[in-house]
Amino acid sequence: MADTPFLRIEGITKRFGTFEAVRDVSLTIGKGEIFALLGGSGCGKTTLLRMLAGFETPTAGRIYLDGQDMTGVPPWERPVHMMFQSYALFPHMTVEKNVAYGLKFEDMTRAQRADRVREMLELVQLTPFAARKPHQISGGQRQRVALARALARQPKLLLLDEPLAALDKKLREHTQFELMSIQERTGVTFIVVTHDQEEAMTLADRIAVMDKGQVRQVGAPSDVYEHPSSRFVANFLGSISQYPAKVAEVTGGTARIEVAAFGATVTAQAIPGLVAGEELTLAIRPEKLTIHRAAPEAENVLQGEVKDLAYFGKDSLYRVTLPSGQLLSVHAVNARRGGEAQPDWYDRVWITFDPASAILLRD
Ligand SMILES: Nc1ncnc2c1ncn2[C@@H]1O[C@H](COP(=O)(O)OP(=O)(O)OP(=O)(O)O)[C@@H](O)[C@H]1O
Ligand SMILES: [Mg+2]
Repeated sequence: MADTPFLRIEGITKRFGTFEAVRDVSLTIGKGEIFALLGGSGCGKTTLLRMLAGFETPTAGRIYLDGQDMTGVPPWERPVHMMFQSYALFPHMTVEKNVAYGLKFEDMTRAQRADRVREMLELVQLTPFAARKPHQISGGQRQRVALARALARQPKLLLLDEPLAALDKKLREHTQFELMSIQERTGVTFIVVTHDQEEAMTLADRIAVMDKGQVRQVGAPSDVYEHPSSRFVANFLGSISQYPAKVAEVTGGTARIEVAAFGATVTAQAIPGLVAGEELTLAIRPEKLTIHRAAPEAENVLQGEVKDLAYFGKDSLYRVTLPSGQLLSVHAVNARRGGEAQPDWYDRVWITFDPASAILLRD
């Protein structure tokens, strides 16, 4: 994984005229890793991939693949394959011919080519569909044909630009697991571009969150979710509430934080360099809050009244009004059947959270 640097991106910038589409991006990606580039539309994901594939020349910076400097190496000489945002299959060709097309310019005998195509169709489990045309198979199957075509040339690095965007939600979830299993069996390094945070979290070993051409944070999905380093990243992954806050006191690893919206001072885990008087943001995810019908014994307790309640079956979303007038979202999992009654509309409630769940953000 990340300990064997396979792809090294060093200070890559791409300018189109005066517009900076990618700004000083540096990343190290390990062999066999599934790495996700996550970010909103226009943040530079495709541009970065195109530079890795060699379709676009960086304005500054270098790319090393397997120790080799890629500067000046044309796309066809790179051990890289890029699967485009719209993975156009040839409509008049069978599934088999579409996969074989990827090998058209390879120096192989007819028998070798046929073997490789057979192997690829096996890999993506499309052997029974070899003779069909793209319009005779499902969207998910078409996606797998494109994947087989991309893998046929045995690239060391496969770049996938929004590979699942054309699929509906259910099929997308299913195909995510297939993609992971195919990656595992081939050992090819994947870089997957997506603007879907759940997809990035499911698929990837590590994620780079991008904004306006820059990488804002890199880490394992749980890292980036649990320990976002900026308000932007915190907001981008899952839902989170953020409040202006002020440091009242720092003692060792913990801090007392005044949150005006809570009308209270709460305890949070300190971050490096924290000093009393510092103003920052306190962020907390709705699922880290626990709602109670009786006053609990806990480090952080807020009191309020249920204003709104949405019951989704497996979970509920509460909106609780605090004495300050602030609304607080609480996400509760309905694990028990029967048992203690859940809070209801207009109930007086108490909300607790662990100091470790409160995230302090400067940026
Ligand atoms: N050839 C070009 N000339 C000028 N500007 C470009 C060019 N290619 C891309 N851009 C601009 O660079 C920015 C990044 O584009 P890019 O295609 O990399 O975004 P993206 O993150 O892939 O977005 P999406 O999720 O919508 O595909 C955009 O603002 C885009 O308009
Ligand atoms: Mg794009």
